[in-house]
Amino acid sequence: MDINKIGVIGAGQMGNGIAHVAALAGVDVMLHDLSEDRIKSGLATINGNLSRQASKGLITEEQRQTALMRINAAPKLSDFGDCDMVIEAATENEQVKIKIFQAVCPMLKPDAILASNTSSISITRLASTTDRPERFIGIHFMNPVPIMQLVELIRGIATGDETFEASRALVARLGKTIAVAEDFPAFIVNRILLPMINEAIYTLYEGVGSVEAIDTAMKLGANHPMGPLQLADFIGLDTCLSVMQVLHDGLADSKYRPCPLLVKYVEAGWLGRKSQRGFYDYRGERPIPTR
Ligand SMILES: NC(=O)c1ccc[n+]([C@@H]2O[C@H](COP(=O)([O-])OP(=O)(O)OC[C@H]3O[C@@H](n4cnc5c(N)ncnc54)[C@H](O)[C@@H]3O)[C@@H](O)[C@H]2O)c1
Repeated sequence: MDINKIGVIGAGQMGNGIAHVAALAGVDVMLHDLSEDRIKSGLATINGNLSRQASKGLITEEQRQTALMRINAAPKLSDFGDCDMVIEAATENEQVKIKIFQAVCPMLKPDAILASNTSSISITRLASTTDRPERFIGIHFMNPVPIMQLVELIRGIATGDETFEASRALVARLGKTIAVAEDFPAFIVNRILLPMINEAIYTLYEGVGSVEAIDTAMKLGANHPMGPLQLADFIGLDTCLSVMQVLHDGLADSKYRPCPLLVKYVEAGWLGRKSQRGFYDYRGERPIPTR
């Protein structure tokens, strides 16, 4: 089964990145979010990112324009009626995702594949809330999508071979490398990465080091390209907290307990870069640590 037209639900940092790489690879994209303003803002981000790639000579001006023309706003879920695949990249919250699937399934072609970009939630459980568990799969892109090479593919218990192969072919067409993960909480990357980030937040919470000391320590002492708190801000602290909650609930092990300081930042609406403030304050000329 060839995937030539996809729908993307959620025009935030991941949804707009997925739309961007798909359009550059020649796939037609319909982009949906809660409001026309959010779709517009997603399209503006894609435009800015494509322009940056063109100015660096990574893509040609013609590629930039063709990619932009391939992406269309989809204010209504019924706009997905002729999509071969729909990729859900909305907020990391199981109830939000289930509601989306219930609303979108009746709009889809019977053989359309439904995929979730969830960072942690069970693909089997999400699939069971749809009318097509055998045509449901986890396609987990990394952030920022245009730059990061990896995509995790996660089969739910019912995911069919045709769905898996079509998804594998799409990811290859987008120029990404696949790691196949079993359907356990947070899959591979986030099962390993998020407990490390959560531990960095505990290290801050317990006063072992400041934001700057922790990030410098892990950059220069462990050769990480960015510090764990900087990375948490980049991922989004709401997403980090949701992933830790899924690990904690799903594996019933206290080692995954989300750090209370992470909870406090999320309760404050300090979600990292996307809200201009997290472990760093991004409102000035350069990021300033908030602790
Ligand atoms: N941030 C990361 O590093 C990262 C990496 C891989 C996967 N993910 C996953 O991708 C998904 C999206 O994350 P993000 O970082 O793009 O978040 P984000 O907050 O940047 O974007 C989420 C978008 O979903 C939209 N949305 C919420 N409810 C919706 C609904 N009912 N219908 C349509 N749109 C809705 C929001 O308006 C928002 O624009 C999450 O499942 C997350 O776990 C995130």
